[in-house]
Amino acid sequence: MKKRTFVKGLLLSAGALLLPKKARALEYYPNKSDKKWAVLYATWCGSTRDAGVWISEGMDGIANVFDVRENPDLSKYDHIVIGGAIRSNVTSQELQDYLKKNKDMLKNKIRGYFAVCGNMMRPVGPEQTKLFIDNHLVQLTGVGNVPSKVFLGRITYGLMEPDVRKQMEGFKMPEYDNLKRSECMEFGKELLKTVSS
Ligand SMILES: Cc1cc2nc3c(=O)[nH]c(=O)nc-3n(C[C@H](O)[C@H](O)[C@H](O)COP(=O)(O)O)c2cc1C
Repeated sequence: MKKRTFVKGLLLSAGALLLPKKARALEYYPNKSDKKWAVLYATWCGSTRDAGVWISEGMDGIANVFDVRENPDLSKYDHIVIGGAIRSNVTSQELQDYLKKNKDMLKNKIRGYFAVCGNMMRPVGPEQTKLFIDNHLVQLTGVGNVPSKVFLGRITYGLMEPDVRKQMEGFKMPEYDNLKRSECMEFGKELLKTVSS
């Protein structure tokens, strides 16, 4: 191999290594749309990420899906759905901080909320909507009167921080998986209908 080709190759691979840093947000959406939708989620163990992706799937995959830990710039989106996993009745501190920090930008763009909880494996009802959506997410954003949904999630011990795992195992909580893709997709469809084409 010629020296110049070798050096060029080296530079190209170095560039490829740098690229993922620049374009960090995962591009989940397979379909283009003139409507700019984003789903913002906060998760510890991944069930809320899956709910977010499945909500987007219900919208025929047009919503891009962001983890709040990436601190995404959502200002270019017109329609935003916000959801968080629940621990001790609230979403993660990162999501709470993000919503406070970006309150003005989000004000006219929020089209829906969701929360993912365990609810001791019991079905969810209006009580959970009040607790996690109306008295929590809506209080943080100041935006109410949009559709919302509370989903039952999962417990996966292998994904928990060691101290949390120990605590949860102490409660003799079994692992469970109550998150339903069909319910998440249904909510995505419902949200899409709220914005006229
Ligand atoms: C430490 C801890 C605290 C939790 N607190 C609550 C709670 O207050 N209310 C509730 O309904 N579920 C609670 N859950 C259940 C989670 O909300 C449920 O497992 C959810 O699917 C987690 O979402 P994630 O996988 O996106 O992190 C808790 C789970 C853990 C591990």
